[in-house]
Amino acid sequence: GRPGGATLATAEFSPVAPNRRDAFTTASGFDHDVVIRWGDPVVKGAPDFDVRRQSVEAAEKQFGYNCDYVGLLPLRRDEALLVVNHEYTDENLMFPAGAYSDDEVKRIAMTNHGMSVVRVRRGRTAGSWRRAGLGRAVENRRIHIRTTFELTGPAAGDVRLRTSADPTGRQVLGTLNNCAGGTTPWGTVLSGEENFNQYFDAGAGLNPAYAAEYQRYGISGSGRGWSSVDPRFDLSKEPHEPHRFGWIVEVDPYDPGSTPRKHTMLGRFKHEGANVSLARDGRAVAYMGDDERGDYLYKFVSADRFDPKPTARARRHNLTLLSKGTLYVARLTGDGAEDGEYDGTGTWIPLCSDSQSFVAGMSVADVLLFTRLAADKVAPTKMDRPEDVEANPVNGKVYAALTNNSRRGSASMPVDEANPLQASQVRASLGAPLTSASGNRNGYVLEMTPAGGDHAATEFGWSLFLVCGDPASPETWFGGFDRSKVSPISCPDNVAFDSEGNLWISTDGNVLGSNDGVFRVPVEGPSRGHVQQFCTVPKGAEACGPLITDGDRALWVAVQHPGEIDGSTFEEPGSTWPHTDAFPRPSVVVAYPAR
Ligand code: FEO
Ligand code: CA
Ligand code: CA
Ligand code: CA
Repeated sequence: GRPGGATLATAEFSPVAPNRRDAFTTASGFDHDVVIRWGDPVVKGAPDFDVRRQSVEAAEKQFGYNCDYVGLLPLRRDEALLVVNHEYTDENLMFPAGAYSDDEVKRIAMTNHGMSVVRVRRGRTAGSWRRAGLGRAVENRRIHIRTTFELTGPAAGDVRLRTSADPTGRQVLGTLNNCAGGTTPWGTVLSGEENFNQYFDAGAGLNPAYAAEYQRYGISGSGRGWSSVDPRFDLSKEPHEPHRFGWIVEVDPYDPGSTPRKHTMLGRFKHEGANVSLARDGRAVAYMGDDERGDYLYKFVSADRFDPKPTARARRHNLTLLSKGTLYVARLTGDGAEDGEYDGTGTWIPLCSDSQSFVAGMSVADVLLFTRLAADKVAPTKMDRPEDVEANPVNGKVYAALTNNSRRGSASMPVDEANPLQASQVRASLGAPLTSASGNRNGYVLEMTPAGGDHAATEFGWSLFLVCGDPASPETWFGGFDRSKVSPISCPDNVAFDSEGNLWISTDGNVLGSNDGVFRVPVEGPSRGHVQQFCTVPKGAEACGPLITDGDRALWVAVQHPGEIDGSTFEEPGSTWPHTDAFPRPSVVVAYPAR
C-alpha cells in the first residue's frame, strides 16, 4: 500500500503468506502496536503484573485472559472506550508449575473471565492507539465472576432461574465464556455467553428434573472443579445455576456504575455474539449464532423503535429495546444444484414474542430458557457451527461465519444445499482417510439478503459466498472469483466491515497447517470474493475482533490464546508472544497504515 495514503479499505496489499511464525505479521505497508496485554492495569490501584504473585484481588483490577470481542466507543476528541471480552483461561500457560494451590488457580482463573472497559487515546500516527493513563479513566472497569448482572425480559424471575443465593431469579453473579459481541446503535456493548456448560460440576449427581435440558446444552457435570471454591458450580446443590448463563449480556460502558444485564428475550444457547441493525421502521434487529455442530441461526426483532435523538431520555428508551420483541430461528431451503451455486431462500420462524409462545407445549419462559429445545420443534436448518452474524452496513446483506463441522454428513446432520460438504467428498478431495476431523473442515461464509432490504422481513435469499479451504481444492468457492488468485482461508469465526463494505474475517482453528489470521474480501463488483490475508497471528493463537475504526485506518485484532498448542506449558510454552516475557500474553493489537 501507499504509506500514509491508502486505508485498510482501499490499500492494494500483497497478502501475508501462510506461516507458522511466533509473531503478529501484517501485510507490508502497515505497522501494529500491542495496546493491552493480559495482566495490564485496568482499574486504578491495580498492581503491576507479576506472574508469580497473581491473586484474585489483582486480577479484579487487571486485564483478563483470552481477549475475544473488541468494541470501541467514542469519547471526546482523541479518546475512546475499548471494550473487550475475556472468554476463558489456559491455566497451563498462566501459572508456573507448583507456584499456586489448586484452589488458588481456580479462583484466579475464574476472575480472569469476564470483560474489560479501558480508556484509550489516539497515538501520533493515524489509526494508532494506546492506553490512557488510569488517573482520568473513570469509565475503566473489570467485569468479572463476582460482578452483579440483572436478568431482564419475560423469563426473568422464573422459578428455574432461582438459586439459594438469589431467590428472586433476577440477579446473577458474573458472566462466563464471553465470545463475540456487537456494539449497538445506542452505544452499548452486547456479548455472548458461549460454552458456559463447561463450568458446572456434577457433585452428588445431576438433577433428573433437567435431564433433557442439560443434555441438549452439553451440561454433563464434567466441569472444571470450580465447585470446590464456589458451591454454586455444583449442579447437585444448585441445579438452576447453569440456567443463569448462556445469555446475551449488555454493558453500558459510558456508565461505569451501571448494572450489566442478561437479556432473556434473546434466548438461551451457546451464544457466539449479537449484532444489532435497524429495520426500515427503526426497530432493532439482533442477528445471532449458536456455535454448536448442527445448531441454528437466530434473530431478534424488537417491539419498539430505536430513538436516534441524542438525549438522555432517548437513551433510556433504547436501553429497553432488547427486553421486548420476537425471537426467530432460520430455515434455509436450497433451489437445487443445477444452477451451479449453493443458494436458495429462507424463512425466519417465530419462536415467541414477549407475551406469546409460538411453539406448541412451551410457554414463553420455556422457549427463552430452553431455546434449543423450542427451536428443535419447528424444523430449522441445522448449520455448521454458526459463529458471528453481522449485517453489512453498505449493501444491507447479512454475513454469517459457519466455522466447520466434522460431523456433517452423519445421520443426524445430512448434507443439504446450505451445508453441502460431507465427509466422503472432503475425504476424496484431500486424498486422506476418513478421520473424526472429516466433514466440513474449513467452513463457509453465508450471505443472506433480507426481503425488500428490510432486516425485519421474515423471508430472505441466501447463498454460500465462501466455501473456505485450500483454493487448489475444487470444492472451494470464492464468490465466483478466480480461485488461483486468493489466499487460503480456513475456519472463519468473526466478521466485520470497513466503510466501503468490504468483509473482514478472522479465523480460529486453521486446519491448513498455518497460523490463523485476518482476511479482507470485497463482496461487490469485479473483486467480489477476492480473499486476501491481511495479517497472521502468533503460534497457537486464534484471531478475534476484528474491528475497523478511524475511517478505515485502524484494524483491531484480539490475539487470543497464543501458545495454545498440544503439550504447551508455562515453562515450555508454544509461544512467547508478544515477547515481553518468557510466557505468552493474550493481547489486543491495533494495525494501521505505516507513515
Ligand atoms: Fe468462542 Fe464460537 O467461538
Ligand atoms: Ca442452487
Ligand atoms: Ca468466536
Ligand atoms: Ca473461536
